Amino acid sequence: MSNLERTLSIIKPDAVERNLDDQIKKMFENQGFKIIKEKKIQIEKSEAESFYKVHETKPFFNDLCTYLSSGPIVVMILQKENAVLANRKLMGATNPKNAEQGTIRRKYGISIDKNSVHGSDSIENAKTEIDFFFKE
Ligand code: CMP
Repeated sequence: MSNLERTLSIIKPDAVERNLDDQIKKMFENQGFKIIKEKKIQIEKSEAESFYKVHETKPFFNDLCTYLSSGPIVVMILQKENAVLANRKLMGATNPKNAEQGTIRRKYGISIDKNSVHGSDSIENAKTEIDFFFKE
């Protein structure tokens, strides 16, 4: 049965800064993801705080929001069968040290903060996150 989904992906400042965006986009496309929409932007810290609101009680929240707003990012809507899970698999573990071979974070991630990509963690959050950046 077909289960075409959309998920939100962000190429984070550490990867954009190293000009890795085209290589990362190719990794998505090679796995059958279609990039439905994309834009390169820089967000305000207040916008990062709103985007990462689910993490607001975490000790790393402030650094996380400072970091996401520190430089240009590429935000994309990705589409594929079971896109949410497939994207999480392709990204690898949050900490690049624990990410499997062949994953984006293993290949390009520097640290748990500078882990090169963000991806929605559920279908519900994917809808919220897509609306956050692309609501018309
Ligand atoms: P991301 O998938 O963008 O979601 C939240 C981010 O918080 C996560 O990737 C990490 O880059 C960052 N982060 C920093 N410290 C931690 C931590 N201890 N546990 C989980 N995420 C962390």
